Amino acid sequence: MKLERCHSIADLQRIARRRLPWPIREFLEGGAGREWSIHNNVAAFSRWALVPRSLADVGERDLSARVFGRDLSWPVMLAPTGMSRLYHGHGELAVARAATGTGTLYSLGTFGSFTIEQVAEVCPGPKMFQLYINGGLERSLTLIDRAKAAGYDALCLTVDSAAAPNKLRDLRSGFDHGGVTPRGLLSILAHPRWVLGLARGGPLKLANLDVGAGDAKKIQWEDADRLSWDLALRIRDRWGGPFALKGILSPADAALAAERGVDAVILSNHGGRQMDALPAPVDMLPDVVDAVGDRLEVLIDSGVRHGGDVLKALALGAKGVFIGRPYLYGLAAGGEAGVRRALQILRSELERDMTLLGVPRLAQIERSSVRPAPPLPVPTWPPLTTDLLGT
Ligand SMILES: Cc1cc2nc3c(=O)[nH]c(=O)nc-3n(C[C@H](O)[C@H](O)[C@H](O)COP(=O)(O)O)c2cc1C
Repeated sequence: MKLERCHSIADLQRIARRRLPWPIREFLEGGAGREWSIHNNVAAFSRWALVPRSLADVGERDLSARVFGRDLSWPVMLAPTGMSRLYHGHGELAVARAATGTGTLYSLGTFGSFTIEQVAEVCPGPKMFQLYINGGLERSLTLIDRAKAAGYDALCLTVDSAAAPNKLRDLRSGFDHGGVTPRGLLSILAHPRWVLGLARGGPLKLANLDVGAGDAKKIQWEDADRLSWDLALRIRDRWGGPFALKGILSPADAALAAERGVDAVILSNHGGRQMDALPAPVDMLPDVVDAVGDRLEVLIDSGVRHGGDVLKALALGAKGVFIGRPYLYGLAAGGEAGVRRALQILRSELERDMTLLGVPRLAQIERSSVRPAPPLPVPTWPPLTTDLLGT
């Protein structure tokens, strides 16, 4: 299927699934435990309905947003996702270029497969660096100085990853141990195009930490359980610019962040990848917004798959929305062009829905544009079952 024939994120997902070997596909799509968090993230958006207003003159539409003091052409941003070369040889560089090309913010992760400096070179637009202290505290602190020197606009500290997740799909495929099972190897051999794409870029590394992918597991969780408010504020002070905490779900934590002068919280359950049975961030949004008022920016990710989901999050008080898997499906399906296609699909869905909703300026959408709706008896997406054929 060609990219132009993809009309939804699910269409891109279908191509991505064909292009990726089984262990990589499982790593991308899977989550913690029984994957209830993933399921719920997506389903939660269906439990909010949009309430249109009529006769609103929506002939001139404005999708622009302002996040971390930067103007964006729309409020959908690209979340940090480690080791993007797993999905396409150009990895983070392709994603960062697509973000800049569409006037939005790209987030590079500590566990990226290209360095802070390489990404900054191709991404003159808004960019954020995501920090893990996992990987060793001292080593991580030096990354802050590098991100500052390379001109990143914001820093986010991920705070939902104190322990390695229990990802059953990765345990079964062997990916969890940095390897693959014989069945995984067979699937890799059946995807020569993927192998070539990866091989062209040389050995896969956690480029910022200069650690080979095979050794990643050994260092990836070092110091992960040492994060505290004290340390978070030290990190904020060392950075000195717009600073966000990523992975907040509790209104009490959001209120503490506001009291302590944090600039933004990213409500997130890590796309269901860290812990199971968590609430969907969109369901926590009203309480968090009530707890912090306008003392800090509330941003959100996890489960966004449609432009209408973006509208719902904004109506409930988010200033912006991040996507993870949707752009990775695009990346796997067609590199930079695939990421652009994912953004194009979401943007046209968003623009159509805001027009039909009677909201000409996205930044002015109000709470009255949504209301709770009963659960839909629809099939869940993404599918919860593992593809047992492994091809
Ligand atoms: C393959 C993959 C890798 C990720 N790696 C990171 C990471 O290194 N750091 C981080 O803070 N979040 C990471 N995330 C979480 C994303 O930043 C984001 O919270 C999540 O993908 C949003 O949910 P969604 O995939 O449903 O859009 C990763 C997500 C995926 C899918």
